[in-house]
Amino acid sequence: MTGAAGFLGSNFVKLLRRTRPAVELVVLDKLTYAGNPANLAELEGTAGFTFVRGDICDATLVETLAGEVDAIVNFAAETHVDRSLLEPFAFVQTDVLGAGVLAEAARRHHHEAFLHVSTDEVYGHVAEGRSREGDPFRPRSPYSASKAGGELLVRSYVESFDLPLIVTRGSNSYGPNQFPEKIVPLFITNAIDGLPLPLYGDGSAVRDYLHAEDHCRGIDLALHRGRPGHAYNLGTGVETDGREVAGAVIELMDLDRSAIQPVADRAGHDYRYALDVGKAKEELGWSAEVGFREGMERTVAWYRENERWWRPLRNGDYWEFYKRNYRALNTS
Ligand code: NAD
Ligand code: DAU
Repeated sequence: MTGAAGFLGSNFVKLLRRTRPAVELVVLDKLTYAGNPANLAELEGTAGFTFVRGDICDATLVETLAGEVDAIVNFAAETHVDRSLLEPFAFVQTDVLGAGVLAEAARRHHHEAFLHVSTDEVYGHVAEGRSREGDPFRPRSPYSASKAGGELLVRSYVESFDLPLIVTRGSNSYGPNQFPEKIVPLFITNAIDGLPLPLYGDGSAVRDYLHAEDHCRGIDLALHRGRPGHAYNLGTGVETDGREVAGAVIELMDLDRSAIQPVADRAGHDYRYALDVGKAKEELGWSAEVGFREGMERTVAWYRENERWWRPLRNGDYWEFYKRNYRALNTS
Protein backbone atom coordinates (compact mmCIF):
# COMPACT_ATOMS: atom_id res chain seq x y z
CA MET A 1 0.00 0.00 0.00
CA THR A 2 1.33 3.43 -0.92
CA GLY A 3 0.54 6.86 0.52
CA ALA A 4 -0.51 5.34 3.84
CA ALA A 5 0.75 8.27 5.92
CA GLY A 6 -1.65 10.68 4.20
CA PHE A 7 -5.27 11.48 4.92
CA LEU A 8 -7.22 8.72 3.17
CA GLY A 9 -4.35 6.22 3.30
CA SER A 10 -4.15 6.37 7.10
CA ASN A 11 -7.93 6.09 7.44
CA PHE A 12 -7.79 3.06 5.13
CA VAL A 13 -5.02 1.37 7.16
CA LYS A 14 -7.05 1.79 10.34
CA LEU A 15 -10.17 0.42 8.65
CA LEU A 16 -8.19 -2.64 7.48
CA ARG A 17 -6.79 -3.20 10.95
CA ARG A 18 -10.32 -3.19 12.42
CA THR A 19 -12.05 -5.24 9.73
CA ARG A 20 -9.34 -7.47 8.24
CA PRO A 21 -6.78 -7.94 11.03
CA ALA A 22 -5.11 -10.89 9.29
CA VAL A 23 -3.99 -8.75 6.34
CA GLU A 24 -0.26 -8.03 6.44
CA LEU A 25 0.65 -4.58 5.27
CA VAL A 26 3.80 -3.19 3.74
CA VAL A 27 3.36 0.54 3.36
CA LEU A 28 5.48 2.80 1.19
CA ASP A 29 5.31 6.55 1.70
CA LYS A 30 7.68 9.37 0.79
CA LEU A 31 6.48 11.51 3.70
CA THR A 32 5.95 14.67 1.71
CA TYR A 33 4.48 17.68 3.53
CA ALA A 34 1.14 15.80 3.42
CA GLY A 35 2.49 12.53 4.84
CA ASN A 36 2.55 12.44 8.60
CA PRO A 37 4.09 9.61 10.67
CA ALA A 38 1.72 10.59 13.50
CA ASN A 39 -1.12 9.23 11.36
CA LEU A 40 0.36 5.73 11.68
CA ALA A 41 1.83 5.96 15.18
CA GLU A 42 -0.67 3.52 16.66
CA LEU A 43 0.41 0.83 14.16
CA GLU A 44 4.15 1.17 14.52
CA GLY A 45 5.73 -1.97 15.94
CA THR A 46 2.52 -4.00 15.62
CA ALA A 47 2.54 -7.41 13.95
CA GLY A 48 1.93 -7.47 10.22
CA PHE A 49 2.77 -3.82 9.71
CA THR A 50 5.93 -2.61 7.96
CA PHE A 51 6.58 1.04 7.11
CA VAL A 52 9.07 1.95 4.39
CA ARG A 53 9.94 5.56 3.68
CA GLY A 54 10.48 5.97 -0.05
CA ASP A 55 9.25 7.23 -3.37
CA ILE A 56 6.87 5.35 -5.69
CA CYS A 57 8.97 6.74 -8.56
CA ASP A 58 11.99 4.78 -7.27
CA ALA A 59 11.73 1.75 -9.57
CA THR A 60 14.44 -0.23 -7.73
CA LEU A 61 12.79 0.13 -4.34
CA VAL A 62 9.32 -0.55 -5.76
CA GLU A 63 10.60 -3.67 -7.54
CA THR A 64 12.04 -5.02 -4.27
CA LEU A 65 8.89 -4.37 -2.26
CA ALA A 66 6.64 -5.70 -5.03
CA GLY A 67 8.33 -9.07 -4.63
CA GLU A 68 7.04 -9.27 -1.05
CA VAL A 69 3.33 -8.59 -1.63
CA ASP A 70 0.21 -10.12 -3.24
CA ALA A 71 -1.55 -6.90 -4.17
CA ILE A 72 -0.87 -3.20 -4.55
CA VAL A 73 -3.20 -0.42 -3.41
CA ASN A 74 -2.03 2.99 -4.62
CA PHE A 75 -3.09 6.02 -2.60
CA ALA A 76 0.17 7.95 -3.08
CA ALA A 77 -0.23 11.21 -4.97
CA GLU A 78 0.24 14.93 -4.92
CA THR A 79 -3.34 15.94 -4.19
CA HIS A 80 -3.98 19.66 -3.79
CA VAL A 81 -5.34 21.48 -6.85
CA ASP A 82 -4.04 24.90 -5.72
CA ARG A 83 -0.50 23.53 -5.30
CA SER A 84 -0.74 21.99 -8.79
CA LEU A 85 -1.35 25.47 -10.18
CA LEU A 86 1.89 26.65 -8.55
CA GLU A 87 4.11 23.59 -9.12
CA PRO A 88 2.59 21.26 -11.73
CA PHE A 89 5.54 18.98 -12.38
CA ALA A 90 5.62 17.39 -8.94
CA PHE A 91 2.12 16.16 -9.86
CA VAL A 92 3.18 14.75 -13.21
CA GLN A 93 6.10 13.00 -11.52
CA THR A 94 4.18 11.21 -8.77
CA ASP A 95 0.65 10.94 -10.17
CA VAL A 96 1.65 9.79 -13.66
CA LEU A 97 5.19 8.37 -13.55
CA GLY A 98 4.81 6.95 -10.01
CA ALA A 99 1.59 5.17 -10.94
CA GLY A 100 3.38 3.74 -13.99
CA VAL A 101 6.32 2.49 -11.91
CA LEU A 102 3.89 0.62 -9.64
CA ALA A 103 2.01 -0.88 -12.60
CA GLU A 104 5.27 -1.98 -14.17
CA ALA A 105 6.26 -3.82 -10.96
CA ALA A 106 2.79 -5.37 -10.66
CA ARG A 107 3.06 -6.58 -14.24
CA ARG A 108 6.29 -8.44 -13.50
CA HIS A 109 5.10 -9.96 -10.23
CA HIS A 110 1.64 -11.07 -11.40
CA HIS A 111 -0.08 -9.71 -8.32
CA GLU A 112 -3.65 -10.71 -7.47
CA ALA A 113 -4.91 -7.14 -7.65
CA PHE A 114 -3.85 -3.58 -8.32
CA LEU A 115 -6.20 -1.00 -6.89
CA HIS A 116 -5.60 2.53 -8.10
CA VAL A 117 -7.23 5.33 -6.12
CA SER A 118 -8.35 7.89 -8.67
CA THR A 119 -10.74 10.84 -8.37
CA ASP A 120 -13.99 12.27 -9.72
CA GLU A 121 -11.89 15.22 -10.95
CA VAL A 122 -10.82 13.21 -14.01
CA TYR A 123 -14.28 13.91 -15.52
CA GLY A 124 -13.70 17.66 -15.22
CA HIS A 125 -16.45 20.24 -14.79
CA VAL A 126 -19.89 18.64 -15.24
CA ALA A 127 -22.43 21.28 -16.33
CA GLU A 128 -25.40 18.96 -16.06
CA GLY A 129 -26.25 15.34 -15.35
CA ARG A 130 -23.93 12.95 -13.52
CA SER A 131 -20.66 11.36 -14.54
CA ARG A 132 -20.73 7.65 -15.23
CA GLU A 133 -17.71 5.39 -15.29
CA GLY A 134 -17.60 5.19 -19.11
CA ASP A 135 -17.64 8.96 -19.60
CA PRO A 136 -14.66 10.65 -21.24
CA PHE A 137 -12.00 12.36 -19.16
CA ARG A 138 -11.92 16.16 -19.37
CA PRO A 139 -9.46 17.24 -16.67
CA ARG A 140 -8.87 20.98 -16.39
CA SER A 141 -6.15 21.43 -13.75
CA PRO A 142 -2.59 20.07 -13.59
CA TYR A 143 -3.75 17.91 -10.63
CA SER A 144 -6.71 16.36 -12.42
CA ALA A 145 -4.77 16.04 -15.69
CA SER A 146 -2.02 14.19 -13.80
CA LYS A 147 -4.54 11.90 -12.11
CA ALA A 148 -6.20 11.26 -15.48
CA GLY A 149 -2.80 10.59 -17.08
CA GLY A 150 -1.81 8.17 -14.29
CA GLU A 151 -5.12 6.36 -14.53
CA LEU A 152 -4.88 6.06 -18.32
CA LEU A 153 -1.36 4.74 -18.01
CA VAL A 154 -2.29 2.01 -15.50
CA ARG A 155 -5.43 1.23 -17.53
CA SER A 156 -3.28 0.61 -20.57
CA TYR A 157 -1.70 -2.24 -18.59
CA VAL A 158 -5.09 -4.00 -18.46
CA GLU A 159 -5.19 -4.25 -22.24
CA SER A 160 -1.47 -4.74 -22.78
CA PHE A 161 -0.48 -6.98 -19.90
CA ASP A 162 -3.67 -8.25 -18.22
CA LEU A 163 -3.08 -6.17 -15.10
CA PRO A 164 -5.90 -7.03 -12.63
CA LEU A 165 -6.67 -3.34 -12.16
CA ILE A 166 -9.55 -1.90 -10.18
CA VAL A 167 -10.01 1.87 -10.07
CA THR A 168 -12.03 3.96 -7.65
CA ARG A 169 -13.05 7.53 -8.48
CA GLY A 170 -14.06 9.10 -5.20
CA SER A 171 -15.45 12.55 -4.57
CA ASN A 172 -14.22 15.28 -2.17
CA SER A 173 -13.38 13.69 1.12
CA TYR A 174 -13.12 15.07 4.63
CA GLY A 175 -12.62 13.68 8.13
CA PRO A 176 -9.78 12.96 10.59
CA ASN A 177 -6.11 13.39 9.61
CA GLN A 178 -6.69 15.67 6.61
CA PHE A 179 -3.88 18.17 6.07
CA PRO A 180 -5.37 21.64 6.70
CA GLU A 181 -5.23 22.90 3.11
CA LYS A 182 -8.43 21.45 1.61
CA ILE A 183 -11.56 23.49 2.27
CA VAL A 184 -13.02 21.58 5.24
CA PRO A 185 -9.95 21.30 7.51
CA LEU A 186 -8.69 24.73 6.38
CA PHE A 187 -11.93 26.44 7.35
CA ILE A 188 -12.17 24.57 10.67
CA THR A 189 -8.57 25.29 11.72
CA ASN A 190 -8.85 28.91 10.57
CA ALA A 191 -12.03 29.23 12.61
CA ILE A 192 -10.28 27.85 15.72
CA ASP A 193 -7.51 30.40 15.18
CA GLY A 194 -9.89 33.30 14.56
CA LEU A 195 -8.75 33.66 10.93
CA PRO A 196 -11.07 34.36 8.00
CA LEU A 197 -12.51 31.58 5.83
CA PRO A 198 -11.25 32.36 2.27
CA LEU A 199 -14.09 31.51 -0.10
CA TYR A 200 -13.21 31.38 -3.80
CA GLY A 201 -15.31 33.49 -6.16
CA ASP A 202 -18.97 33.62 -5.22
CA GLY A 203 -18.76 30.27 -3.39
CA SER A 204 -21.14 28.60 -5.82
CA ALA A 205 -18.82 25.77 -6.95
CA VAL A 206 -20.44 22.44 -6.18
CA ARG A 207 -18.76 19.37 -4.72
CA ASP A 208 -19.94 16.03 -3.30
CA TYR A 209 -18.53 15.72 0.23
CA LEU A 210 -17.81 12.11 1.15
CA HIS A 211 -16.69 11.21 4.67
CA ALA A 212 -13.30 9.42 4.78
CA GLU A 213 -14.89 6.44 6.54
CA ASP A 214 -17.33 5.91 3.65
CA HIS A 215 -14.67 6.53 1.00
CA CYS A 216 -12.29 3.98 2.55
CA ARG A 217 -15.04 1.39 2.99
CA GLY A 218 -15.82 1.84 -0.71
CA ILE A 219 -12.18 1.32 -1.67
CA ASP A 220 -12.03 -1.83 0.47
CA LEU A 221 -15.19 -3.22 -1.15
CA ALA A 222 -13.90 -2.36 -4.63
CA LEU A 223 -10.67 -4.21 -3.85
CA HIS A 224 -12.50 -7.30 -2.62
CA ARG A 225 -15.63 -7.33 -4.79
CA GLY A 226 -14.76 -5.19 -7.80
CA ARG A 227 -14.35 -6.62 -11.27
CA PRO A 228 -10.82 -6.47 -12.70
CA GLY A 229 -10.62 -3.89 -15.47
CA HIS A 230 -13.43 -1.81 -13.95
CA ALA A 231 -13.74 1.61 -12.37
CA TYR A 232 -16.19 2.57 -9.60
CA ASN A 233 -17.49 6.05 -8.76
CA LEU A 234 -17.75 6.68 -5.01
CA GLY A 235 -19.79 9.64 -3.81
CA THR A 236 -22.89 10.55 -1.80
CA GLY A 237 -24.87 12.01 -4.72
CA VAL A 238 -25.52 15.13 -2.60
CA GLU A 239 -24.46 18.49 -4.06
CA THR A 240 -22.98 21.06 -1.66
CA ASP A 241 -21.51 24.41 -2.64
CA GLY A 242 -18.75 26.43 -1.00
CA ARG A 243 -21.20 28.76 0.76
CA GLU A 244 -22.84 25.75 2.40
CA VAL A 245 -19.47 24.43 3.61
CA ALA A 246 -18.66 27.85 5.09
CA GLY A 247 -22.21 28.04 6.53
CA ALA A 248 -21.82 24.67 8.26
CA VAL A 249 -18.50 25.70 9.84
CA ILE A 250 -19.99 29.03 10.93
CA GLU A 251 -23.00 27.38 12.50
CA LEU A 252 -21.17 24.51 14.18
CA MET A 253 -18.43 26.78 15.51
CA ASP A 254 -20.73 29.62 16.49
CA LEU A 255 -19.12 32.26 14.26
CA ASP A 256 -20.46 35.35 12.59
CA ARG A 257 -21.02 35.27 8.81
CA SER A 258 -18.42 38.03 8.54
CA ALA A 259 -15.85 35.25 9.09
CA ILE A 260 -16.19 34.51 5.36
CA GLN A 261 -13.57 36.32 3.30
CA PRO A 262 -14.47 36.33 -0.40
CA VAL A 263 -11.27 35.95 -2.42
CA ALA A 264 -10.56 35.92 -6.15
CA ASP A 265 -11.56 32.70 -7.83
CA ARG A 266 -9.29 29.68 -8.37
CA ALA A 267 -7.87 29.66 -11.91
CA GLY A 268 -9.73 27.17 -14.08
CA HIS A 269 -12.15 26.39 -11.23
CA ASP A 270 -14.33 23.34 -11.93
CA TYR A 271 -17.76 24.57 -10.89
CA ARG A 272 -19.48 21.25 -10.50
CA TYR A 273 -18.65 17.61 -9.94
CA ALA A 274 -21.51 15.13 -9.75
CA LEU A 275 -21.25 11.35 -9.81
CA ASP A 276 -23.65 8.61 -10.71
CA VAL A 277 -22.87 6.01 -8.03
CA GLY A 278 -25.27 3.32 -9.23
CA LYS A 279 -22.50 0.93 -10.28
CA ALA A 280 -20.84 0.88 -6.85
CA LYS A 281 -24.23 0.35 -5.23
CA GLU A 282 -25.19 -2.48 -7.54
CA GLU A 283 -21.88 -4.32 -7.85
CA LEU A 284 -20.17 -3.59 -4.54
CA GLY A 285 -23.22 -3.17 -2.30
CA TRP A 286 -21.73 0.18 -1.28
CA SER A 287 -23.38 3.46 -0.46
CA ALA A 288 -22.34 6.37 1.70
CA GLU A 289 -23.71 6.33 5.23
CA VAL A 290 -22.40 9.52 6.83
CA GLY A 291 -24.47 12.59 5.92
CA PHE A 292 -22.81 16.00 5.49
CA ARG A 293 -24.21 17.44 8.74
CA GLU A 294 -23.12 14.46 10.86
CA GLY A 295 -19.76 14.27 9.09
CA MET A 296 -19.10 17.96 9.66
CA GLU A 297 -20.05 17.70 13.36
CA ARG A 298 -17.64 14.81 13.78
CA THR A 299 -14.90 16.57 11.84
CA VAL A 300 -15.21 19.84 13.76
CA ALA A 301 -15.04 17.82 17.00
CA TRP A 302 -11.97 15.92 15.76
CA TYR A 303 -10.02 19.11 14.91
CA ARG A 304 -11.04 20.68 18.20
CA GLU A 305 -9.81 17.64 20.12
CA ASN A 306 -6.65 17.10 18.07
CA GLU A 307 -5.01 20.49 18.00
CA ARG A 308 -1.72 18.77 18.86
CA TRP A 309 -2.01 16.91 15.54
CA TRP A 310 -2.63 19.88 13.21
CA ARG A 311 -0.96 22.87 14.89
CA PRO A 312 2.64 21.77 14.07
CA LEU A 313 1.57 21.40 10.42
CA ARG A 314 0.82 25.12 10.18
CA ASN A 315 4.53 25.90 10.13
CA GLY A 316 6.71 28.27 8.08
CA ASP A 317 6.39 26.28 4.84
CA TYR A 318 2.64 26.10 5.30
CA TRP A 319 2.24 29.87 5.71
CA GLU A 320 4.58 30.45 2.78
CA PHE A 321 2.29 28.37 0.56
CA TYR A 322 -0.75 30.08 2.08
CA LYS A 323 0.61 33.52 1.32
CA ARG A 324 1.64 32.53 -2.20
CA ASN A 325 -1.72 30.98 -2.92
CA TYR A 326 -4.04 33.49 -1.35
CA ARG A 327 -1.95 36.62 -2.06
CA ALA A 328 -1.85 35.63 -5.71
CA LEU A 329 -5.63 35.63 -5.47
CA ASN A 330 -5.71 39.19 -4.11
CA THR A 331 -6.87 38.38 -0.61
CA SER A 332 -6.01 41.81 0.74
P1 NAD B 1 -2.75 13.27 0.96
O1 NAD B 1 -2.18 14.43 0.22
O2 NAD B 1 -3.35 13.48 2.30
O3 NAD B 1 -1.64 12.12 1.12
C1 NAD B 1 -0.85 11.71 0.06
C2 NAD B 1 0.17 10.72 0.62
O4 NAD B 1 0.99 10.26 -0.46
C3 NAD B 1 1.11 11.34 1.65
O5 NAD B 1 1.30 10.46 2.72
C4 NAD B 1 2.42 11.54 0.87
O6 NAD B 1 3.57 11.51 1.69
C5 NAD B 1 2.36 10.36 -0.09
N1 NAD B 1 3.15 10.58 -1.30
C6 NAD B 1 3.12 11.67 -2.13
N2 NAD B 1 4.01 11.51 -3.12
C7 NAD B 1 4.59 10.30 -2.94
C8 NAD B 1 5.57 9.57 -3.67
N3 NAD B 1 6.15 10.07 -4.77
N4 NAD B 1 5.94 8.36 -3.20
C9 NAD B 1 5.38 7.85 -2.07
N5 NAD B 1 4.46 8.51 -1.34
C10 NAD B 1 4.06 9.71 -1.78
O7 NAD B 1 -3.80 12.60 -0.04
P2 NAD B 1 -5.28 12.08 0.20
O8 NAD B 1 -6.19 13.23 0.21
O9 NAD B 1 -5.28 11.10 1.30
O10 NAD B 1 -5.51 11.31 -1.18
C11 NAD B 1 -5.11 9.95 -1.34
C12 NAD B 1 -5.49 9.49 -2.72
O11 NAD B 1 -6.91 9.64 -2.91
C13 NAD B 1 -4.84 10.30 -3.84
O12 NAD B 1 -4.51 9.44 -4.89
C14 NAD B 1 -5.94 11.27 -4.28
O13 NAD B 1 -5.79 11.65 -5.62
C15 NAD B 1 -7.17 10.41 -4.06
N6 NAD B 1 -8.41 11.14 -3.78
C16 NAD B 1 -8.46 12.04 -2.75
C17 NAD B 1 -9.67 12.69 -2.48
C18 NAD B 1 -9.78 13.70 -1.37
O14 NAD B 1 -10.77 14.45 -1.34
N7 NAD B 1 -8.85 13.76 -0.43
C19 NAD B 1 -10.80 12.41 -3.25
C20 NAD B 1 -10.68 11.50 -4.31
C21 NAD B 1 -9.50 10.85 -4.55
O1 DAU C 1 -13.12 15.75 -5.98
C1 DAU C 1 -12.07 14.99 -5.44
C2 DAU C 1 -10.91 15.90 -5.18
O2 DAU C 1 -11.30 16.77 -4.12
C3 DAU C 1 -9.62 15.18 -4.84
O3 DAU C 1 -9.24 14.40 -5.95
C4 DAU C 1 -8.53 16.18 -4.49
O4 DAU C 1 -7.37 15.50 -4.07
C5 DAU C 1 -9.02 17.07 -3.37
O5 DAU C 1 -8.06 18.08 -3.12
C6 DAU C 1 -10.35 17.72 -3.72
O6 DAU C 1 -10.20 18.74 -4.75
P1 DAU C 1 -10.97 20.15 -4.69
O7 DAU C 1 -10.19 21.13 -5.42
O8 DAU C 1 -12.39 19.97 -5.06
O9 DAU C 1 -10.90 20.38 -3.08
P2 DAU C 1 -10.63 21.72 -2.26
O10 DAU C 1 -10.94 21.39 -0.84
O11 DAU C 1 -9.33 22.33 -2.56
O12 DAU C 1 -11.78 22.69 -2.81
C7 DAU C 1 -13.17 22.34 -2.64
C8 DAU C 1 -14.01 23.52 -3.10
O13 DAU C 1 -13.81 24.61 -2.17
C9 DAU C 1 -13.63 24.07 -4.45
O14 DAU C 1 -14.80 24.53 -5.12
C10 DAU C 1 -12.72 25.26 -4.14
C11 DAU C 1 -13.28 25.76 -2.82
N1 DAU C 1 -12.28 26.36 -1.91
C12 DAU C 1 -11.16 25.65 -1.61
C13 DAU C 1 -10.19 26.18 -0.78
C14 DAU C 1 -8.94 25.41 -0.45
C15 DAU C 1 -12.50 27.63 -1.38
O15 DAU C 1 -13.53 28.28 -1.63
N2 DAU C 1 -11.53 28.15 -0.55
C16 DAU C 1 -10.39 27.48 -0.25
O16 DAU C 1 -9.55 28.04 0.50
